[in-house]
Amino acid sequence: MDPADLTTDVWDVDAADFPAEGTVEEQVRFLLRYAVLAPSSHNAQPWSFGVDDCGTVTVRGVDDRWLREADPDRREFHLSLGCAVETLRIAARRFGLGCRAVTPAEGAVVARVEIGPGGNPPLDADLFDQITERYTDHRPFQWTPVPTPVLENLRAEAAEFDVAVRIVREERPKRSLAELQANADRAQMTSPAYRRELGRWIGMGALGDSWLAARIGRAAVTQLNLGGREARRNSALIESAPVVAVLSTGDDERPTQVATGRAFQRMALAASAAGLAVHPMSQILERPDDRERLRELLDLDGRPQHLFRLGAVDGRQPHTPRWPAESVTVDGGAPDDAE
Ligand SMILES: Cc1cc2nc3c(=O)[nH]c(=O)nc-3n(C[C@H](O)[C@H](O)[C@H](O)COP(=O)(O)O)c2cc1C
Repeated sequence: MDPADLTTDVWDVDAADFPAEGTVEEQVRFLLRYAVLAPSSHNAQPWSFGVDDCGTVTVRGVDDRWLREADPDRREFHLSLGCAVETLRIAARRFGLGCRAVTPAEGAVVARVEIGPGGNPPLDADLFDQITERYTDHRPFQWTPVPTPVLENLRAEAAEFDVAVRIVREERPKRSLAELQANADRAQMTSPAYRRELGRWIGMGALGDSWLAARIGRAAVTQLNLGGREARRNSALIESAPVVAVLSTGDDERPTQVATGRAFQRMALAASAAGLAVHPMSQILERPDDRERLRELLDLDGRPQHLFRLGAVDGRQPHTPRWPAESVTVDGGAPDDAE
């Protein structure tokens, strides 16, 4: 993918342009303009979509955009793909189209999304409206408690996917989480390969920096060990957040991780609808020992898959760029569709 093609213009997609009278294939191609707005780790956007004339979308993970250093077991890869799958489903349902998403346990295809003809009552309109509004906020959050009904609503979004949600609000566990975060930040940044990988995505401008800031950011991350600075900043962000949420599941299988991404995207959109900001923080989960410590600390039954801060902010941060849907879409289902 050419970094020069990354653009924030993708956020201007307008529901009024939906080709209601078009073929199902034309409609699906329009819906993919929403799918690419999904969040992904390092904004690597590790997706490719095959579209056939029956309305089936074949979702594949793209290895060139897999974060081998940060995410060797592909957890974040599958979560990110799940975010895109669910965004596609929400968009389909908003326009009254039927939608069924299946995740094969292995093989080249990570998900097959079958989008049927219209005529159904529109669903998920409130979440749909947030697809173009949602963004990740890296700033400190206000110390305003998140109302319990909002948290219950977020939890309900995850229930469909069998994803458990642990809400951490008390000071003491948050302090322990902050220590774990600092530990993980320091350890990750000692690895030149991890820093090179992060620098690659910062340097491309994928994280939303200007051309100059992206180049300075890449040089700084690649050449300096900024672990101490990251540890201080990120642990303070966790400690000061009104809520830290941890998603966990019964196993580490691929369909489970895709489902976790789907649950997370619904929660992120619901949070956005409630006027709240979300910030995933993955460093603890990227290190097997720290991930296990997280499980013990929160006494989780299952395996932790995702951690994010939740809270209120003043104003918003700008959108990050994407590769447009057309550049990540191919015709039909390719021959390696083995499930
Ligand atoms: C699985 C996953 C893991 C992520 N981990 C982090 C993280 O550790 N730190 C961070 O600042 N953002 C993290 N993010 C947020 C992405 O950086 C963000 O989604 C991406 O840059 C696109 O920006 P946007 O969400 O504002 O559209 C993560 C997102 C996903 C889906």
